[in-house]
Amino acid sequence: MEFLIYEIIGQIAVIKINRPKALNALNPLVIKELDAVIKEIEESPDVKVLILGSNNHFAAGADIKGMVDCDVEEAKSFSFSNSLQNIHGLRIPTIAAIDGYALGGGLELALTCDFRIASSAAKLGFPEINLGIMPGAGGTIRAPRLIGESKAKELIFFGEMIDANEAQRIGLVNQVVEKEQLMDTAMEWARKLSEKAPIALKAAKETIEAGLEEPRLREALKIEDQNWAGLFATSDQKEGMRAFIEKRKAVYLGK
Ligand code: CAA
Repeated sequence: MEFLIYEIIGQIAVIKINRPKALNALNPLVIKELDAVIKEIEESPDVKVLILGSNNHFAAGADIKGMVDCDVEEAKSFSFSNSLQNIHGLRIPTIAAIDGYALGGGLELALTCDFRIASSAAKLGFPEINLGIMPGAGGTIRAPRLIGESKAKELIFFGEMIDANEAQRIGLVNQVVEKEQLMDTAMEWARKLSEKAPIALKAAKETIEAGLEEPRLREALKIEDQNWAGLFATSDQKEGMRAFIEKRKAVYLGK
Protein backbone atom coordinates (compact mmCIF):
# COMPACT_ATOMS: atom_id res chain seq x y z
CA MET A 1 0.00 0.00 0.00
CA GLU A 2 1.23 3.46 -0.89
CA PHE A 3 -0.80 5.69 1.41
CA LEU A 4 -1.63 3.55 4.42
CA ILE A 5 0.33 1.76 7.08
CA TYR A 6 -1.69 -1.18 8.34
CA GLU A 7 -0.80 -3.56 11.11
CA ILE A 8 -2.51 -5.91 13.48
CA ILE A 9 -1.23 -5.86 17.03
CA GLY A 10 -2.77 -8.76 18.94
CA GLN A 11 -6.47 -8.31 18.26
CA ILE A 12 -6.21 -4.62 17.46
CA ALA A 13 -6.03 -3.30 13.89
CA VAL A 14 -4.12 -0.05 13.46
CA ILE A 15 -4.45 1.98 10.27
CA LYS A 16 -2.28 5.06 9.78
CA ILE A 17 -2.79 7.40 6.86
CA ASN A 18 0.57 8.10 5.30
CA ARG A 19 0.60 10.92 2.79
CA PRO A 20 2.71 13.38 4.73
CA LYS A 21 3.58 15.76 1.88
CA ALA A 22 -0.10 16.72 1.59
CA LEU A 23 -0.75 16.58 5.36
CA ASN A 24 -2.58 13.30 4.74
CA ALA A 25 -5.19 14.91 2.48
CA LEU A 26 -7.64 12.28 1.28
CA ASN A 27 -7.93 11.49 -2.41
CA PRO A 28 -9.60 8.57 -4.22
CA LEU A 29 -6.36 6.54 -4.09
CA VAL A 30 -6.06 6.85 -0.31
CA ILE A 31 -9.74 5.97 0.03
CA LYS A 32 -9.39 2.95 -2.29
CA GLU A 33 -6.68 1.56 -0.03
CA LEU A 34 -8.79 2.35 3.02
CA ASP A 35 -11.76 0.51 1.46
CA ALA A 36 -9.66 -2.60 0.94
CA VAL A 37 -8.32 -2.63 4.50
CA ILE A 38 -11.74 -1.96 6.02
CA LYS A 39 -13.17 -4.89 4.04
CA GLU A 40 -10.39 -7.12 5.37
CA ILE A 41 -11.13 -6.01 8.94
CA GLU A 42 -14.86 -6.52 8.43
CA GLU A 43 -14.22 -10.10 7.35
CA SER A 44 -11.67 -10.93 10.03
CA PRO A 45 -13.10 -12.70 13.09
CA ASP A 46 -9.89 -11.99 15.01
CA VAL A 47 -9.86 -8.20 14.91
CA LYS A 48 -11.67 -6.83 17.94
CA VAL A 49 -10.92 -3.09 17.80
CA LEU A 50 -9.79 -0.62 15.13
CA ILE A 51 -7.59 2.40 15.71
CA LEU A 52 -7.40 4.98 12.93
CA GLY A 53 -4.46 7.32 13.22
CA SER A 54 -1.46 8.82 11.53
CA ASN A 55 2.19 9.48 12.19
CA ASN A 56 1.63 13.21 12.35
CA HIS A 57 -1.37 15.13 11.02
CA PHE A 58 -4.54 13.03 11.07
CA ALA A 59 -5.82 14.39 7.72
CA ALA A 60 -6.17 17.95 6.39
CA GLY A 61 -9.34 17.13 4.47
CA ALA A 62 -10.18 16.03 0.98
CA ASP A 63 -7.53 16.82 -1.63
CA ILE A 64 -8.21 20.38 -2.77
CA LYS A 65 -5.75 20.17 -5.67
CA GLY A 66 -7.56 17.11 -6.98
CA MET A 67 -10.99 18.73 -6.57
CA VAL A 68 -10.43 22.25 -7.83
CA ASP A 69 -11.60 21.62 -11.41
CA CYS A 70 -14.21 18.95 -10.68
CA ASP A 71 -17.70 19.24 -12.12
CA VAL A 72 -20.73 18.06 -10.18
CA GLU A 73 -20.32 14.39 -11.18
CA GLU A 74 -16.55 14.31 -10.65
CA ALA A 75 -16.91 15.95 -7.22
CA LYS A 76 -18.83 12.90 -6.01
CA SER A 77 -15.63 10.84 -6.09
CA PHE A 78 -14.16 13.21 -3.46
CA SER A 79 -16.96 13.01 -0.89
CA PHE A 80 -16.07 9.44 0.14
CA SER A 81 -19.43 9.10 1.87
CA ASN A 82 -19.92 5.41 1.15
CA SER A 83 -16.41 4.50 2.25
CA LEU A 84 -16.78 6.48 5.45
CA GLN A 85 -20.15 4.86 6.12
CA ASN A 86 -18.45 1.46 5.84
CA ILE A 87 -16.17 2.47 8.70
CA HIS A 88 -19.12 3.81 10.69
CA GLY A 89 -20.89 0.51 10.05
CA LEU A 90 -18.07 -1.70 11.42
CA ARG A 91 -19.40 -3.91 14.17
CA ILE A 92 -16.30 -3.61 16.33
CA PRO A 93 -15.40 -0.55 18.44
CA THR A 94 -13.39 2.07 16.55
CA ILE A 95 -11.10 4.80 17.86
CA ALA A 96 -9.67 7.79 16.00
CA ALA A 97 -6.30 8.87 17.41
CA ILE A 98 -6.01 12.48 16.29
CA ASP A 99 -2.75 14.36 16.14
CA GLY A 100 -2.24 17.63 14.26
CA TYR A 101 -4.87 18.63 11.75
CA ALA A 102 -8.21 16.84 11.47
CA LEU A 103 -9.99 19.12 9.02
CA GLY A 104 -12.90 18.76 6.64
CA GLY A 105 -12.95 15.20 5.31
CA GLY A 106 -10.29 14.35 7.93
CA LEU A 107 -12.62 15.33 10.77
CA GLU A 108 -15.45 13.54 8.98
CA LEU A 109 -13.31 10.42 8.92
CA ALA A 110 -12.72 10.78 12.67
CA LEU A 111 -16.47 11.23 13.19
CA THR A 112 -17.13 7.77 11.77
CA CYS A 113 -15.37 6.29 14.80
CA ASP A 114 -16.98 5.48 18.14
CA PHE A 115 -14.35 7.46 20.04
CA ARG A 116 -11.88 10.27 19.35
CA ILE A 117 -8.72 10.70 21.39
CA ALA A 118 -6.77 13.84 20.51
CA SER A 119 -3.25 15.00 21.21
CA SER A 120 -2.98 18.42 22.81
CA ALA A 121 -1.48 19.57 19.48
CA ALA A 122 -4.60 18.63 17.50
CA LYS A 123 -6.58 21.20 15.53
CA LEU A 124 -10.04 20.28 14.37
CA GLY A 125 -12.53 21.99 12.13
CA PHE A 126 -14.64 22.19 9.03
CA PRO A 127 -12.89 24.76 6.80
CA GLU A 128 -14.95 23.87 3.71
CA ILE A 129 -16.96 27.11 3.81
CA ASN A 130 -13.69 28.98 3.18
CA LEU A 131 -13.36 27.07 -0.09
CA GLY A 132 -16.88 27.88 -1.22
CA ILE A 133 -18.24 24.43 -0.35
CA MET A 134 -19.59 22.61 2.70
CA PRO A 135 -18.68 19.33 4.41
CA GLY A 136 -19.59 16.46 2.10
CA ALA A 137 -18.50 13.26 3.84
CA GLY A 138 -21.06 13.13 6.61
CA GLY A 139 -19.99 16.25 8.55
CA THR A 140 -23.29 18.08 8.27
CA ILE A 141 -25.09 14.95 9.48
CA ARG A 142 -22.78 13.35 12.06
CA ALA A 143 -21.48 16.53 13.73
CA PRO A 144 -24.94 17.85 14.79
CA ARG A 145 -25.82 14.42 16.15
CA LEU A 146 -22.66 14.40 18.24
CA ILE A 147 -22.27 18.00 19.43
CA GLY A 148 -25.74 19.45 18.78
CA GLU A 149 -27.12 21.55 15.96
CA SER A 150 -25.92 24.97 17.08
CA LYS A 151 -22.28 24.04 17.81
CA ALA A 152 -22.11 22.10 14.54
CA LYS A 153 -23.45 25.14 12.66
CA GLU A 154 -20.87 27.32 14.39
CA LEU A 155 -18.03 25.07 13.21
CA ILE A 156 -19.44 24.64 9.71
CA PHE A 157 -20.61 28.23 9.04
CA PHE A 158 -17.49 29.98 10.38
CA GLY A 159 -14.96 27.37 9.20
CA GLU A 160 -12.59 28.15 12.07
CA MET A 161 -10.39 25.56 13.72
CA ILE A 162 -10.66 24.68 17.38
CA ASP A 163 -7.98 23.18 19.61
CA ALA A 164 -8.15 19.81 21.34
CA ASN A 165 -9.33 21.17 24.70
CA GLU A 166 -12.21 23.08 23.12
CA ALA A 167 -13.06 19.96 21.09
CA GLN A 168 -13.25 17.97 24.31
CA ARG A 169 -15.33 20.68 25.99
CA ILE A 170 -17.98 20.51 23.27
CA GLY A 171 -17.97 16.71 23.14
CA LEU A 172 -16.20 16.33 19.82
CA VAL A 173 -13.37 14.33 21.39
CA ASN A 174 -13.41 11.98 24.36
CA GLN A 175 -9.95 12.57 25.78
CA VAL A 176 -6.97 14.86 25.26
CA VAL A 177 -3.44 13.63 25.99
CA GLU A 178 0.09 14.78 25.31
CA LYS A 179 1.30 14.01 21.78
CA GLU A 180 3.81 11.41 23.02
CA GLN A 181 1.03 9.50 24.78
CA LEU A 182 -1.51 9.50 21.95
CA MET A 183 -0.96 6.04 20.48
CA ASP A 184 -0.32 4.44 23.88
CA THR A 185 -3.59 5.86 25.16
CA ALA A 186 -5.49 4.70 22.09
CA MET A 187 -3.92 1.24 22.49
CA GLU A 188 -4.92 1.19 26.14
CA TRP A 189 -8.54 1.99 25.26
CA ALA A 190 -8.41 -0.66 22.53
CA ARG A 191 -6.89 -3.26 24.83
CA LYS A 192 -9.61 -2.72 27.46
CA LEU A 193 -12.30 -2.92 24.79
CA SER A 194 -10.78 -6.11 23.37
CA GLU A 195 -11.34 -7.81 26.74
CA LYS A 196 -15.07 -7.09 26.80
CA ALA A 197 -17.66 -9.56 25.51
CA PRO A 198 -17.56 -8.94 21.74
CA ILE A 199 -21.14 -9.94 20.99
CA ALA A 200 -22.45 -7.68 23.75
CA LEU A 201 -20.29 -4.80 22.43
CA LYS A 202 -21.59 -5.37 18.91
CA ALA A 203 -25.18 -5.48 20.18
CA ALA A 204 -24.68 -2.31 22.21
CA LYS A 205 -23.19 -0.51 19.22
CA GLU A 206 -25.96 -1.66 16.88
CA THR A 207 -28.66 -0.76 19.41
CA ILE A 208 -27.26 2.73 19.98
CA GLU A 209 -27.07 3.33 16.22
CA ALA A 210 -30.58 1.96 15.68
CA GLY A 211 -31.90 4.11 18.53
CA LEU A 212 -30.36 7.23 17.01
CA GLU A 213 -32.09 6.47 13.72
CA GLU A 214 -35.45 5.70 15.32
CA PRO A 215 -37.18 8.86 16.59
CA ARG A 216 -40.12 6.95 18.13
CA LEU A 217 -39.11 6.12 21.71
CA ARG A 218 -41.34 3.05 22.00
CA GLU A 219 -39.93 1.58 18.76
CA ALA A 220 -36.38 2.28 19.89
CA LEU A 221 -37.04 0.60 23.23
CA LYS A 222 -38.41 -2.46 21.41
CA ILE A 223 -35.09 -2.79 19.56
CA GLU A 224 -33.25 -2.58 22.86
CA ASP A 225 -35.55 -5.17 24.49
CA GLN A 226 -34.98 -7.61 21.66
CA ASN A 227 -31.22 -7.14 21.47
CA TRP A 228 -30.84 -7.29 25.24
CA ALA A 229 -32.78 -10.53 25.59
CA GLY A 230 -30.94 -11.98 22.58
CA LEU A 231 -27.67 -11.80 24.51
CA PHE A 232 -28.94 -14.51 26.85
CA ALA A 233 -28.42 -16.94 23.98
CA THR A 234 -24.65 -16.37 24.19
CA SER A 235 -22.21 -18.32 26.32
CA ASP A 236 -20.49 -14.99 27.04
CA GLN A 237 -23.56 -13.93 29.06
CA LYS A 238 -23.31 -17.12 31.12
CA GLU A 239 -19.57 -16.61 31.56
CA GLY A 240 -19.95 -12.93 32.55
CA MET A 241 -22.60 -13.59 35.17
CA ARG A 242 -20.98 -16.78 36.52
CA ALA A 243 -17.64 -14.98 36.80
CA PHE A 244 -19.34 -12.27 38.85
CA ILE A 245 -20.92 -14.83 41.17
CA GLU A 246 -17.68 -16.84 41.45
CA LYS A 247 -15.71 -13.62 42.07
CA ARG A 248 -13.27 -14.11 39.18
CA LYS A 249 -12.40 -12.28 35.98
CA ALA A 250 -14.58 -13.29 33.04
CA VAL A 251 -12.95 -14.70 29.93
CA TYR A 252 -15.08 -14.05 26.88
CA LEU A 253 -14.94 -16.26 23.80
CA GLY A 254 -17.27 -14.27 21.56
CA LYS A 255 -19.87 -17.05 21.49
N1 CAA B 1 -5.64 19.15 -0.11
C1 CAA B 1 -4.52 19.15 -0.85
N2 CAA B 1 -3.32 19.55 -0.36
C2 CAA B 1 -3.27 19.97 0.91
C3 CAA B 1 -4.40 19.99 1.74
C4 CAA B 1 -5.64 19.56 1.19
N3 CAA B 1 -6.76 19.50 1.91
N4 CAA B 1 -4.03 20.48 2.95
C5 CAA B 1 -2.72 20.73 2.86
N5 CAA B 1 -2.25 20.42 1.65
C6 CAA B 1 -0.88 20.55 1.13
C7 CAA B 1 -0.54 22.00 0.84
O1 CAA B 1 -1.05 22.39 -0.43
C8 CAA B 1 0.96 21.97 0.88
O2 CAA B 1 1.46 21.39 -0.29
P1 CAA B 1 2.64 22.15 -1.12
O3 CAA B 1 3.81 22.07 -0.20
O4 CAA B 1 2.78 21.29 -2.34
O5 CAA B 1 2.18 23.54 -1.36
C9 CAA B 1 1.24 20.96 2.01
O6 CAA B 1 0.05 20.19 2.13
C10 CAA B 1 1.50 21.64 3.34
O7 CAA B 1 0.42 22.52 3.59
P2 CAA B 1 0.63 24.08 3.97
O8 CAA B 1 1.87 24.60 3.36
O9 CAA B 1 -0.64 24.78 3.66
O10 CAA B 1 0.85 23.92 5.55
P3 CAA B 1 0.50 24.99 6.66
O11 CAA B 1 1.11 24.43 7.90
O12 CAA B 1 0.88 26.36 6.26
O13 CAA B 1 -1.10 24.97 6.80
C11 CAA B 1 -3.25 23.91 6.93
C12 CAA B 1 -1.74 23.79 7.21
C13 CAA B 1 -3.83 25.00 7.83
C14 CAA B 1 -3.88 22.57 7.30
C15 CAA B 1 -3.47 24.25 5.46
O14 CAA B 1 -2.72 23.36 4.66
C16 CAA B 1 -4.90 24.15 5.04
O15 CAA B 1 -5.68 25.05 5.32
N6 CAA B 1 -5.27 23.05 4.33
C17 CAA B 1 -6.59 22.89 3.77
C18 CAA B 1 -7.58 22.45 4.81
C19 CAA B 1 -8.98 22.34 4.22
O16 CAA B 1 -9.52 23.32 3.71
N7 CAA B 1 -9.59 21.14 4.27
C20 CAA B 1 -10.89 20.88 3.75
C21 CAA B 1 -10.80 20.31 2.39
S1 CAA B 1 -12.36 20.14 1.58
C22 CAA B 1 -13.06 18.76 2.20
O17 CAA B 1 -12.51 18.09 3.08
C23 CAA B 1 -14.37 18.40 1.60
C24 CAA B 1 -15.13 17.32 2.27
O18 CAA B 1 -15.87 17.56 3.19
C25 CAA B 1 -15.10 15.96 1.74
